[in-house]
Amino acid sequence: MKLKKIVSVLLVAACVFSLAACGSKKDSGESEDGGKADKLVMATNAEFPPYEYHEGDEIVGIDAEIAEAIAEELGMELEIEDMAFDSIIPAVTAGKADIGVAGMTVTEDRKESVDFSEPYATATQVVIVKEDSDIAGPDDLVGKKVGVQLGTTGDICASDIEDATVEQYNKGFEAVQALTQGKIDAVVIDGQPAKEFVKEAEGLKILDEAFTEEEYAIAIAKDNTELKDQINDALAKLKDSGKLDEIIGKYIKADAE
Ligand code: ARG
Repeated sequence: MKLKKIVSVLLVAACVFSLAACGSKKDSGESEDGGKADKLVMATNAEFPPYEYHEGDEIVGIDAEIAEAIAEELGMELEIEDMAFDSIIPAVTAGKADIGVAGMTVTEDRKESVDFSEPYATATQVVIVKEDSDIAGPDDLVGKKVGVQLGTTGDICASDIEDATVEQYNKGFEAVQALTQGKIDAVVIDGQPAKEFVKEAEGLKILDEAFTEEEYAIAIAKDNTELKDQINDALAKLKDSGKLDEIIGKYIKADAE
């Protein structure tokens, strides 16, 4: 009789324990005691050098390294999911990814769907044209054919230009190729990738006058304030220790204006 009771108590305890183990596996973001490190799933669009791009089979760049350093701070294992840029926020809101890290600009519109961490970089939207173009500044884009990466702030920016035709491409690089081929008159895109793309292409230049000042931050699901706090703490540590500057400096050389 007594023994039976002990056995059933043990059984109940085992059940509860296994349920708890199951639960904690599902919630990536919460730390499991002992065991293997939890996964931190990052959604990105690796078409955006120097922030994220492919190098062989790997996704590398500033964002990949920042996320890796954050994961390390949190004792988690980073997993990167590459997808279309406009799928990143839906992936975060649906819980398919824990964070969106993609040179993503903080906008009021996006803030309605996700929360953002503290910013970790500033950026501008610039205009790329052919070297012999008569377009000298954003004002000359009126009535022109402007290429952008679909769903980006460049896309939003370009759609405000009077009488312009906006051509949306899945990758920023495809917009730049279309410009080289003379299919469009200009590309509106973030400053750093613009430099990388122009370096790789021939006969293109970036106009001096930029469009906007923007800030990049990490997107997190609205109900996940615990993770947001953890990420902000980790980011603050990376800023204080100089690690963040070190990562950025590795990819963006100060003299490369
Ligand atoms: N900063 C721009 C935006 O947030 C473009 C970001 C594109 N990022 C990328 N990984 N393709 O809309």
